[in-house]
Amino acid sequence: MSIVNAKEMLLEATKGKYSVGAFNITNLIQMEAVVEAAVEKKAPLIIQTSVTPSKFLGRDVLVAIYRTLAGAAPIPICLHLDHSTDVKYCKQCADAGYTNIMIDASKQEFEENVRQTKEICDYCHALGGISVEGELGTVSGVEDQVKVVENEAALCSPDQAIEFIERTGVDLFAPAIGTAHGVYKTKNPKIDFERFEKIAKLINGQGVKVPLVVHGGTGLPPDYVERLVALGGSKFNVSTELKYTLIDTTFDYISKNREQYDPGKIDIAVKDAIRKAVGRWIDMLGSAGKA
Ligand code: 13P
Repeated sequence: MSIVNAKEMLLEATKGKYSVGAFNITNLIQMEAVVEAAVEKKAPLIIQTSVTPSKFLGRDVLVAIYRTLAGAAPIPICLHLDHSTDVKYCKQCADAGYTNIMIDASKQEFEENVRQTKEICDYCHALGGISVEGELGTVSGVEDQVKVVENEAALCSPDQAIEFIERTGVDLFAPAIGTAHGVYKTKNPKIDFERFEKIAKLINGQGVKVPLVVHGGTGLPPDYVERLVALGGSKFNVSTELKYTLIDTTFDYISKNREQYDPGKIDIAVKDAIRKAVGRWIDMLGSAGKA
């Protein structure tokens, strides 16, 4: 029960009008902290790794840790590969035991995006038990190896969204609506709520079919988050905030305890800070108590 893919938990979330936090991790301490926070809040959880940490830590090692932590947790947990532009690496992670795969061919022409996304859907669905996320339009900012400059970011066309979903068989859909990876440069980023609403109605208005994903969680004002959840965003991605939390907490701890050489204490401080940050997100997304 604890080791699950993303599709079922997100169909539930879409129907229940809450969102599941999808948190990017880069090491074991972050992974444990994210799981502990979700267990404390009794919330379903998606753990994500982008490609660089996945290759650095090793996909087999990550899957082994995921299976150990999720197997012992009383909540459903999915392990998601985030923003892989490499079809081969998507398949390798599916083979290794990731339970949700994102093929990000959003920088390609529409036809090529359809072709690559369908290839990964066919592969993962044939393996069984693995769901797939695809993206249309481009999310600006930097997420690992994917870099999109702001003035080249293209928002998702609602009509193409329907065609994309029908032709690929994708399980989760990430439409570009103006959210961005990294830290927002303005206090009130320009998010196209109307476009998101239109896409949500077209896809899920007559019965929930394909859950919608919101990228670029870090720094979004809480009322924006609530609005996007209410409109049907049922997977909410948060990465940069957790990286900042890890680095700032480590820096603060070492600055205050320069004479101490006890790595375990740094780990405790980092884990505590990440657990709190994730707990705040879970409350904001409304997923507490939904596991
Ligand atoms: P942030 O880094 O802005 O939180 O975005 C995370 C994300 O969308 C990962 O796919």
